[in-house]
Amino acid sequence: MTDYNSVLVEKRGAVTLVTLNRPQALNALNSEVLRELIEVFAAYDADDSQHCLVLTGSEKAFAAGADIKEMQSQGFAEMYSANFFGGWEQVTSTRKPWIAAVAGYALGGGSEVAMMADFIIAADTAKFGQPEIKLGVTPGMGGSQRLALAVGKAKAMEMCLTGRMMDAAEAERSGLVAKVVPAEGFLDEVMKTAEAIAGMAPLAAIANKEMINAAFEMPLNQGIRFERRLFHGLFGTEDQKEGMTAFVEKRPGNWKGR
Ligand code: CAA
Repeated sequence: MTDYNSVLVEKRGAVTLVTLNRPQALNALNSEVLRELIEVFAAYDADDSQHCLVLTGSEKAFAAGADIKEMQSQGFAEMYSANFFGGWEQVTSTRKPWIAAVAGYALGGGSEVAMMADFIIAADTAKFGQPEIKLGVTPGMGGSQRLALAVGKAKAMEMCLTGRMMDAAEAERSGLVAKVVPAEGFLDEVMKTAEAIAGMAPLAAIANKEMINAAFEMPLNQGIRFERRLFHGLFGTEDQKEGMTAFVEKRPGNWKGR
């Protein structure tokens, strides 16, 4: 296990569990957290033994936002020249699947990082919000775009303009989260989903992820063509032969990842 200061990393079988660990600041996302997550996600992507990653926080807070105390005194030139928050694109370029497991507060950057995941599973205690307007700013880690894509313009506008929080039930109704589970035994439930994903053919997992993301990046006709080519491409893999043979032979697939 590599030693980090602000995150805990544990491999549980084929699932990497990453826990944000700044309890004194409700897991506020400072530069150190970002630096460490960039390393952790790159290591996960490069590790052939790992097939799903879960990012979580504490019972009280997934993350209460970007670190306000770190940003408070910054000026435009510093923010612009450092491309502040630009490093998150390295996290979103992760090719393998990952899930955000959100209990408690996911506010500002916390909600934005959760929305970077392939999907969110929420505990029934989860609270999402973009309260940056109350600080005189806006979302800066993709929140205005991903929230609008996830819940539509009306709710995204209302959330960002009022800074109000959305509870787990509303988040599920609005399409922000894939499912809500009780806080009691929350992580065990998330791990079951992660293990199910980790048990799938690895290249098919990457391809499924890539084509769903394409739906948000290209027009429909190009997205469908992209899907079709990736689908055709998987017929060049051993795992396609194995998967279809295993179905016919009524047994689980034994994946090679090639
Ligand atoms: N940055 C830095 N420190 C934070 C923080 C943040 N985003 N959120 C909480 N903390 C710190 C508090 O300052 C406090 O530290 P001290 O004990 O040293 O004072 C500690 O965490 C505990 O917080 P509270 O005492 O406030 O806890 P609470 O239970 O009373 O309230 C809360 C919880 C409602 C989440 C409240 O902490 C809060 O409103 N936090 C800020 C939420 C926010 O505005 N997030 C957006 C940040 S800006 C952003 O994210 C920009 C972007 O687009 C990326």
